[in-house]
Amino acid sequence: MNGESTVIISGYTAKEAIALHRCLSKHYAINAVDDTEEVLHLLDTEEIDLLLCKHTAGQFDALELLHKARMAHPETVRLLAGSLSKEETTRATEEAAIYQFVSDDWSAIQIELLVNRALENRELSYRHRHLSRDLKIAEDVLRKQQAEEPHKDGHGQFEKLVYGSPNMASLCNLAKKAAITSLPILIQGETGTGKELMARGIHYNSSRSEQPLLVHNCGGMSDELLHSELFGHKRGAFTGAVSDRMGLFPAADGGTVFLDEISDVSPTFQVSLLRFLQEGEVKPLGSDKIIKCDVRIIAACNQPLDVLISKGKFRQDLYYRLNGFQLNIAPLRQRIEDIEVLTYFLVKKFSTETNRAILGVSPGVLEQFSLYDWPGNVRELENEAKRMIALTDNGTYITEETLSPHIATLKPKVKSKSFDFNIEGFTLKEKVEKMESSIITEALERLRWNKSKAAKELGLSRVGLTNKIKRYHLNTQASTG
Ligand SMILES: Nc1ncnc2c1ncn2[C@@H]1O[C@H](COP(=O)(O)OP(=O)(O)OP(=O)(O)O)[C@@H](O)[C@H]1O
Ligand SMILES: [Mg+2]
Repeated sequence: MNGESTVIISGYTAKEAIALHRCLSKHYAINAVDDTEEVLHLLDTEEIDLLLCKHTAGQFDALELLHKARMAHPETVRLLAGSLSKEETTRATEEAAIYQFVSDDWSAIQIELLVNRALENRELSYRHRHLSRDLKIAEDVLRKQQAEEPHKDGHGQFEKLVYGSPNMASLCNLAKKAAITSLPILIQGETGTGKELMARGIHYNSSRSEQPLLVHNCGGMSDELLHSELFGHKRGAFTGAVSDRMGLFPAADGGTVFLDEISDVSPTFQVSLLRFLQEGEVKPLGSDKIIKCDVRIIAACNQPLDVLISKGKFRQDLYYRLNGFQLNIAPLRQRIEDIEVLTYFLVKKFSTETNRAILGVSPGVLEQFSLYDWPGNVRELENEAKRMIALTDNGTYITEETLSPHIATLKPKVKSKSFDFNIEGFTLKEKVEKMESSIITEALERLRWNKSKAAKELGLSRVGLTNKIKRYHLNTQASTG
């Protein structure tokens, strides 16, 4: 240690204090102070590194001073000298948490070494604490970055969901926030868009992750069967009920139930579900007993529930109960940036699983993929990837030759017809708007609706471009033709 460290010695006779001063002052600033209050005041006002006290029964209560010092300034190293009774030794260890006892027959070299070691030890534990804290901060930052930002190769990931589009990135961020609440979640999206994968991601990011996640598809089931599946039944409740059955809700107590195809539930069963969501109680078929269960519901459907409500096919009150958070997964054709990322991801995944040595994917394949509509979404892309891997020789790239014919034969969409500015009957404002709309459409079509690229090329922010797409209704044109 160096001379900057400050040491207080306390309770020593004048002769001893002088001797101590002589051997320690080479390296440390020494203060000899005998008044307890004054020592505590110095500890409060100055940076004191070490306190060396001598206990003398009936004269100087070093134990009390060291105890108070420990309470107020635990970082100051405490050394104790003097002869102590057994009980005092216990107090010194337990209450004052002495670093070390100093024998009365100390030599200069011993005391110097002892003080030096004690301060060195303090410095090391200080650094260790700080390094651990820095490491923890760095780990937290890294974890947060990994969770929120795209990976280095351009993709982001939420549990098993992989994405490259800003659209999915913000949806996954919302999902992460929703996950830590206990609110019900409604996930909407076309078939194969990853609704179940999203539900699983939410469960495993929630405080319920150690509890069960039970999945049930509500499609094509009679009310009786659905009731028995979800709420359970007693033996003999209906023909074929040969034994008691525990329903999914009680079985998932403390966890999550994912109800797929919620839109298929009959109006009568919608009422039962609503009651469950309101009361958190189930009554198994044929039983009088009410069972309380704490279950988080994640519901999914592949058609927008509000449309079904407007057609009178889905209860509005149930919709509100399910709709704690709403996550709408866009179809793959509307998130072109995800196609490339998913293709690389899936090819790597499936070729590893099947022990195939595939070098990569040719740009032509990705080009054709971006022209295709993907009605089956990611599930269809998965099948296409598996098919192409099977048709590709080991040690080579996946090329256009392996594409399914309906994808291979797609042609880039023709340029949109430009607006005839000589046409009469339009104001200047209308003509400028038509021109803007046709420039944006041309860029979007040429760039396969990659909004990030189009915004960059047009000198717009992504939000600015999205606003213009909405204003000129370009989205609907894209999905219809
Ligand atoms: N973003 C994604 N990243 C990786 N795999 C995905 C992604 N989205 C979907 N998948 C995969 O695509 C397949 C379909 O996903 P999932 O079953 O979650 O879709 P879904 O929306 O529930 O479909 P459905 O409406 O037909 O039930 C699964 O094999 C899933 O692993
Ligand atoms: Mg599903």
